[in-house]
Amino acid sequence: MEKLNGKKINIAIFISGRGSNLNSLINHFKKKNSKVLIRLVVSNNPKARGLIYAKRSKIKIYISNSKKKEKLEKMLLNKIINQKIDLICLAGFMRILSRNFIRDFKKPILNIHPSLLPKYKGLNTHKRVIENKEKFSGSTVHRVSPKIDSGKIILQKKVKVSKYENEKSLEKKILKVEHKLYPKAIEKFLN
Ligand code: GRF
Repeated sequence: MEKLNGKKINIAIFISGRGSNLNSLINHFKKKNSKVLIRLVVSNNPKARGLIYAKRSKIKIYISNSKKKEKLEKMLLNKIINQKIDLICLAGFMRILSRNFIRDFKKPILNIHPSLLPKYKGLNTHKRVIENKEKFSGSTVHRVSPKIDSGKIILQKKVKVSKYENEKSLEKKILKVEHKLYPKAIEKFLN
Protein backbone atom coordinates (compact mmCIF):
# COMPACT_ATOMS: atom_id res chain seq x y z
CA MET A 1 0.00 0.00 0.00
CA GLU A 2 1.43 3.39 -0.97
CA LYS A 3 2.53 5.63 1.89
CA LEU A 4 0.48 8.76 2.35
CA ASN A 5 3.10 11.02 3.99
CA GLY A 6 1.56 11.17 7.43
CA LYS A 7 -1.94 11.72 6.10
CA LYS A 8 -4.70 9.51 7.51
CA ILE A 9 -5.77 6.48 5.53
CA ASN A 10 -9.44 6.81 4.59
CA ILE A 11 -11.35 3.59 4.95
CA ALA A 12 -14.82 2.61 3.77
CA ILE A 13 -16.47 -0.32 5.53
CA PHE A 14 -19.11 -2.32 3.67
CA ILE A 15 -21.80 -4.14 5.66
CA SER A 16 -25.14 -5.86 5.10
CA GLY A 17 -26.48 -6.72 8.55
CA ARG A 18 -25.54 -6.91 12.20
CA GLY A 19 -22.30 -4.92 11.93
CA SER A 20 -20.52 -6.19 15.05
CA ASN A 21 -17.19 -6.08 13.16
CA LEU A 22 -17.97 -2.53 12.05
CA ASN A 23 -18.55 -1.63 15.71
CA SER A 24 -15.23 -3.09 16.81
CA LEU A 25 -13.40 -1.29 13.99
CA ILE A 26 -15.03 2.02 14.93
CA ASN A 27 -13.99 1.54 18.56
CA HIS A 28 -10.47 0.57 17.62
CA PHE A 29 -9.76 3.36 15.15
CA LYS A 30 -11.31 6.20 17.12
CA LYS A 31 -8.10 6.50 19.15
CA LYS A 32 -6.62 9.99 18.81
CA ASN A 33 -3.34 8.92 17.24
CA SER A 34 -4.91 6.42 14.85
CA LYS A 35 -3.64 6.68 11.31
CA VAL A 36 -6.94 5.33 10.02
CA LEU A 37 -10.11 7.32 9.48
CA ILE A 38 -13.36 5.45 8.90
CA ARG A 39 -14.81 7.90 6.44
CA LEU A 40 -17.75 5.99 4.99
CA VAL A 41 -20.00 3.04 5.78
CA VAL A 42 -21.67 1.40 2.80
CA SER A 43 -24.64 -0.94 3.10
CA ASN A 44 -26.63 -2.71 0.42
CA ASN A 45 -29.39 -3.04 3.01
CA PRO A 46 -31.07 0.15 4.27
CA LYS A 47 -32.28 -1.77 7.33
CA ALA A 48 -28.89 -3.20 8.32
CA ARG A 49 -28.72 -3.19 12.11
CA GLY A 50 -25.06 -2.18 11.96
CA LEU A 51 -25.92 1.25 10.54
CA ILE A 52 -26.71 2.32 14.07
CA TYR A 53 -22.98 2.23 14.89
CA ALA A 54 -22.18 4.52 11.98
CA LYS A 55 -24.95 6.94 12.96
CA ARG A 56 -23.84 6.96 16.57
CA SER A 57 -20.31 7.91 15.54
CA LYS A 58 -21.50 10.37 12.89
CA ILE A 59 -19.85 8.47 10.06
CA LYS A 60 -21.27 9.09 6.57
CA ILE A 61 -23.56 6.34 5.31
CA TYR A 62 -24.14 5.36 1.72
CA ILE A 63 -26.92 2.93 0.85
CA SER A 64 -26.16 1.02 -2.31
CA ASN A 65 -29.22 -1.03 -3.16
CA SER A 66 -30.11 -0.49 -6.79
CA LYS A 67 -31.28 -3.71 -8.48
CA LYS A 68 -29.05 -3.22 -11.52
CA LYS A 69 -25.57 -4.35 -10.55
CA GLU A 70 -23.73 -2.36 -13.20
CA LYS A 71 -25.48 0.89 -12.34
CA LEU A 72 -25.09 0.23 -8.62
CA GLU A 73 -21.35 -0.38 -8.87
CA LYS A 74 -20.83 2.71 -11.03
CA MET A 75 -22.56 4.90 -8.47
CA LEU A 76 -20.74 3.20 -5.64
CA LEU A 77 -17.37 3.69 -7.29
CA ASN A 78 -18.12 7.39 -7.85
CA LYS A 79 -18.96 7.77 -4.17
CA ILE A 80 -15.81 5.95 -3.09
CA ILE A 81 -13.58 8.05 -5.35
CA ASN A 82 -15.35 11.23 -4.33
CA GLN A 83 -14.73 10.40 -0.64
CA LYS A 84 -11.03 9.75 -1.38
CA ILE A 85 -11.18 6.22 0.00
CA ASP A 86 -7.79 4.46 0.17
CA LEU A 87 -8.94 1.08 1.41
CA ILE A 88 -12.24 -0.83 1.40
CA CYS A 89 -12.92 -3.31 4.22
CA LEU A 90 -15.79 -5.74 3.72
CA ALA A 91 -17.36 -6.78 7.02
CA GLY A 92 -20.30 -9.09 6.50
CA PHE A 93 -21.08 -7.58 3.08
CA MET A 94 -23.31 -10.07 1.31
CA ARG A 95 -22.86 -8.85 -2.28
CA ILE A 96 -20.14 -10.03 -4.59
CA LEU A 97 -18.14 -7.18 -6.08
CA SER A 98 -17.54 -7.58 -9.79
CA ARG A 99 -14.15 -8.02 -11.42
CA ASN A 100 -14.64 -4.59 -13.02
CA PHE A 101 -15.29 -2.90 -9.68
CA ILE A 102 -12.21 -4.48 -8.12
CA ARG A 103 -10.10 -3.43 -11.13
CA ASP A 104 -11.49 0.10 -11.41
CA PHE A 105 -11.12 0.92 -7.71
CA LYS A 106 -7.37 0.28 -8.19
CA LYS A 107 -6.76 0.25 -4.43
CA PRO A 108 -6.86 -2.66 -1.99
CA ILE A 109 -10.00 -4.34 -0.70
CA LEU A 110 -9.93 -6.58 2.40
CA ASN A 111 -12.49 -9.08 3.67
CA ILE A 112 -13.03 -11.07 6.86
CA HIS A 113 -14.26 -14.63 6.44
CA PRO A 114 -15.30 -16.91 9.33
CA SER A 115 -13.18 -19.96 8.50
CA LEU A 116 -9.58 -21.01 8.19
CA LEU A 117 -9.21 -20.25 4.50
CA PRO A 118 -8.57 -21.87 2.06
CA LYS A 119 -10.93 -24.25 3.86
CA TYR A 120 -14.67 -23.51 3.85
CA LYS A 121 -14.99 -20.74 1.31
CA GLY A 122 -18.49 -19.40 0.70
CA LEU A 123 -21.59 -19.50 2.89
CA ASN A 124 -22.72 -21.62 5.88
CA THR A 125 -19.18 -22.19 7.09
CA HIS A 126 -20.06 -23.01 10.72
CA LYS A 127 -22.67 -25.58 9.69
CA ARG A 128 -20.23 -27.34 7.37
CA VAL A 129 -17.41 -27.24 9.93
CA ILE A 130 -19.64 -28.92 12.52
CA GLU A 131 -21.01 -31.49 10.09
CA ASN A 132 -17.47 -32.44 9.14
CA LYS A 133 -16.50 -32.76 12.82
CA GLU A 134 -13.53 -30.42 12.40
CA LYS A 135 -11.42 -29.95 15.52
CA PHE A 136 -10.53 -26.36 14.61
CA SER A 137 -12.06 -23.45 12.81
CA GLY A 138 -11.37 -19.72 12.93
CA SER A 139 -11.33 -16.55 10.92
CA THR A 140 -9.25 -15.11 8.11
CA VAL A 141 -8.62 -11.58 6.88
CA HIS A 142 -7.59 -11.60 3.23
CA ARG A 143 -7.24 -9.42 0.14
CA VAL A 144 -10.25 -9.50 -2.15
CA SER A 145 -9.59 -10.83 -5.62
CA PRO A 146 -12.14 -11.61 -8.35
CA LYS A 147 -12.16 -15.26 -7.19
CA ILE A 148 -14.33 -15.60 -4.07
CA ASP A 149 -12.53 -15.92 -0.68
CA SER A 150 -9.25 -16.57 -2.48
CA GLY A 151 -7.03 -13.47 -2.21
CA LYS A 152 -3.77 -13.32 -0.27
CA ILE A 153 -4.15 -14.08 3.43
CA ILE A 154 -3.14 -11.26 5.78
CA LEU A 155 -3.93 -12.76 9.19
CA GLN A 156 -5.68 -15.81 10.52
CA LYS A 157 -6.75 -16.95 13.98
CA LYS A 158 -7.67 -20.47 15.03
CA VAL A 159 -10.33 -21.50 17.54
CA LYS A 160 -11.05 -24.92 18.97
CA VAL A 161 -14.33 -26.56 17.99
CA SER A 162 -15.58 -28.39 21.08
CA LYS A 163 -17.45 -31.69 21.04
CA TYR A 164 -20.64 -29.92 22.08
CA GLU A 165 -20.40 -27.03 19.65
CA ASN A 166 -23.42 -25.93 17.64
CA GLU A 167 -23.63 -23.35 14.87
CA LYS A 168 -24.66 -20.56 17.24
CA SER A 169 -21.95 -21.21 19.81
CA LEU A 170 -19.28 -21.48 17.12
CA GLU A 171 -20.45 -18.28 15.48
CA LYS A 172 -20.25 -16.50 18.84
CA LYS A 173 -16.78 -17.88 19.56
CA ILE A 174 -15.47 -16.84 16.14
CA LEU A 175 -17.05 -13.38 16.22
CA LYS A 176 -15.27 -12.67 19.48
CA VAL A 177 -11.97 -13.52 17.82
CA GLU A 178 -12.84 -11.49 14.70
CA HIS A 179 -13.38 -8.32 16.70
CA LYS A 180 -9.67 -8.34 17.61
CA LEU A 181 -8.38 -9.90 14.40
CA TYR A 182 -9.75 -7.41 11.86
CA PRO A 183 -8.25 -4.24 13.39
CA LYS A 184 -4.96 -6.07 13.89
CA ALA A 185 -4.94 -7.29 10.28
CA ILE A 186 -5.69 -3.82 8.92
CA GLU A 187 -2.82 -2.38 10.94
CA LYS A 188 -0.50 -5.13 9.74
CA PHE A 189 -1.56 -4.52 6.15
CA LEU A 190 -0.93 -0.78 6.41
CA ASN A 191 2.52 -1.13 7.95
C1 GRF B 1 -18.58 -12.24 10.25
O1 GRF B 1 -18.52 -13.51 10.85
C2 GRF B 1 -17.65 -12.18 9.07
O2 GRF B 1 -16.55 -13.04 9.14
C3 GRF B 1 -18.52 -12.62 7.91
O3 GRF B 1 -19.80 -12.13 8.22
C4 GRF B 1 -19.94 -11.96 9.63
C5 GRF B 1 -20.37 -10.55 9.84
O4 GRF B 1 -20.78 -10.29 11.16
N1 GRF B 1 -18.01 -12.19 6.65
P1 GRF B 1 -21.07 -8.81 11.64
O5 GRF B 1 -22.12 -8.22 10.70
O6 GRF B 1 -19.79 -8.03 11.58
O7 GRF B 1 -21.59 -8.92 13.04
